[in-house]
Amino acid sequence: MANNWEKPSLEQIEKFEGKDVLSAPQFSKAELDVIMNVAAYYEQALLEKRILKDMEGKVMASLFYEPSTRTRLSFETAMLRLGGTVITVAESPTNQTSSTAKGETMHDGITVIDGYADVIVIRSPQKGAADVAAQAAKHPIINAGDGAGQHPTQALLDIYTILKEKGTLQGLKVTLLGDLKFGRTVHSLVDFLAIYGCELVLVSPEELKMPEEITKSLRDRGVKVEETSDLKKALSTSDVLYVTRIQRERFTDPAVYEKVKDAFIVDEEMISGCKKGMIILHPLPRVNEISVGVDKYEGAKYFEQAYNGLYVRMALLALTTGSVVLFRPHRKTVG
Ligand code: NCD
Repeated sequence: MANNWEKPSLEQIEKFEGKDVLSAPQFSKAELDVIMNVAAYYEQALLEKRILKDMEGKVMASLFYEPSTRTRLSFETAMLRLGGTVITVAESPTNQTSSTAKGETMHDGITVIDGYADVIVIRSPQKGAADVAAQAAKHPIINAGDGAGQHPTQALLDIYTILKEKGTLQGLKVTLLGDLKFGRTVHSLVDFLAIYGCELVLVSPEELKMPEEITKSLRDRGVKVEETSDLKKALSTSDVLYVTRIQRERFTDPAVYEKVKDAFIVDEEMISGCKKGMIILHPLPRVNEISVGVDKYEGAKYFEQAYNGLYVRMALLALTTGSVVLFRPHRKTVG
């Protein structure tokens, strides 16, 4: 991927300037191609150990109101690797350090932070929070996960990883496993997989099925969607297995979580009959759903997937702020 990218036109690049990244359905195939190419360009730049200044003088606000390791740190690293700087709120609903603890609304908080930063990355336990933020902010808002809603930047890095590993997505059979009800990564990912012409197999406990409105909209668009509980059979014909964590924090009844938490475990025995060349992805963190023994399987790509997040997030930050230096002279002004 890194040495195999195509330079998008200035016009294609400029279309992203000032835009928010809120949910998967906002993107066309042409826009996805631009993001993938710019991500690959940055991957190559980092592999060549280039010092980038694309976002020099710019500030990213990283607002995480829910736990995060990869998403926050890869966004922050992305900004630093682009020569920009970062301001951060990292808290959880039970450990608030910002003025949300005093009852400040999202709208007011974002209005203020928007005066400090050139781009705002936000994660919240509330579905729709990024949309509220986008209404308050003049600068681009990037949704880094809104409750059980969407997680478009994760899905973009998932697509980047599949393209890198498989060369294409066209016609691939992708099995999505685990918590398809509350898992926001899969809610975004299925839209992209549909755009790229993939066939989908959904495997989950009965209580955690993909919401009906999502499967219906996929089928209405002509996507082949199969729902099954026979994981082993699905793996015998799948090109990609995408595993998700059961989202314990979204259950209202702990007994239901206890009942379903270990319903499907991907272990060495489970993947023994899988299709040759199948890759295994997981947005991470994993709890029990993939046993550690699977890590040595050559198709286990979940850690590479997390590394790819850096390049895709560099692309998103630079594109939305109009900072991709490859395509224009470096700007001297701030804002
Ligand atoms: C995911 C998330 O936050 O939705 N994590 C991530 O961003 N890599 C998946 C999860 O928490 O299970």
